[in-house]
Amino acid sequence: MYILSIDTSCDETSVAITKNNLILSNIVASQYKYHKKYGGVVPSLAKIAHKKTIDKTISLALKKANVEIKEIDLISVTIGPGLAIALEVGINKAKEISKKYNIPIIPINHMEGHLLSSFVYPKNKEYIEDLYREIKLPALGVLVSGGHTELILVNSIGNYKIIGETLDDACGECFDKCARMLNLGYPGGKIISKISKENKKNVQITITKNSQSEYVQLYNNNTQKKYSLPVPKSFSEDFNMSFSGLKTAFNNLIKSIQQIDQKTLSDLCILVESTAIESVTVKIEKYIKQNNSIKEIWLGGGVIANTSFVQKVRTICKKYQIKLRKPYSNKLTGDNAAMIAIVGYFYSKYFPEKIIQPNESDTIDRIPNLRIDNTNLIF
Ligand code: KG4
Ligand code: ZN
Repeated sequence: MYILSIDTSCDETSVAITKNNLILSNIVASQYKYHKKYGGVVPSLAKIAHKKTIDKTISLALKKANVEIKEIDLISVTIGPGLAIALEVGINKAKEISKKYNIPIIPINHMEGHLLSSFVYPKNKEYIEDLYREIKLPALGVLVSGGHTELILVNSIGNYKIIGETLDDACGECFDKCARMLNLGYPGGKIISKISKENKKNVQITITKNSQSEYVQLYNNNTQKKYSLPVPKSFSEDFNMSFSGLKTAFNNLIKSIQQIDQKTLSDLCILVESTAIESVTVKIEKYIKQNNSIKEIWLGGGVIANTSFVQKVRTICKKYQIKLRKPYSNKLTGDNAAMIAIVGYFYSKYFPEKIIQPNESDTIDRIPNLRIDNTNLIF
């Protein structure tokens, strides 16, 4: 089955062509240059840029995949969550193609795309006929991006329960804001992670806990300087997280330092990275300890590109003998259309009743605030 998938949920126009769950092409046209000068995504500009780019991106995806539009069996399109006027561009284009070429559509929850992104394989990998049978459930989905930080209990494909989420900022947003405080530019998470990786050799990170709080401490062996940050909500009974407290604590720490030289800057990057990661992983471990039925962990979202994060989750998985699944390439951690295709593939194969025929495609509408536990609302 050939799938054409479209995602215009935020600031990337993405189109992929997949054959079942194998990627033939996955084009991501970034709008970074349009939004950069505003320091964030401007919805009206996003809409204009999507409109300008979508046709070109579709043609390029088909060309790269060496597939003709007439060969497409299914269109997978993101309907939420995301920016309403940006989502609309992709949805309208999907409807137009659906009617013109008589191709059915499947409307997709963007977060379900991140959740299932580890099931997208490169085209040279062997096709697995019954992918669902390979999966051991229940699984714990860990979605960490610039807009979301969620722990999801997966009982079956399509049946999701959010068991913990951020109560304020998302983890990636925290990385970006902390990077801005250090004048490191955008996208901050990637920059912090690069600086941390290059400068970890001479520092020791320790985690200290007392009865009510948890701290991440950094000690630099060369300069003998010490810094620490609290891990918000680490001791709460629930599995929710908070990153705005970390951002404030980091801001206070920066203000308390008289001069930030290169070494201090890298210490601060390592410290904030370690604390943000601990904020999520402490909750993952807590949940797994209390629910020993979890068989797999599925990672998704932009922050998954952080190798220290993945390493820490891997250690937890080894300790509790859980299978770890993560996207095979970092191109699949950020927003991309191939992850939207895999959801369409799963639904068409196991729940074909969810497919919408071209003459009914006008019933498809955007749902900007769609949550992953409301995925069933789509159908
Ligand atoms: O999933 P994504 O591309 O977009 C959405 O938010 O939907 O995630 C982007 C986020 C940004 O906040 C970015 O700073 C963060 O992912 N990010 C990282 C890394 N690469 C991207 N955060 C930490 N370490 C990284 N290596
Ligand atoms: Zn996303």
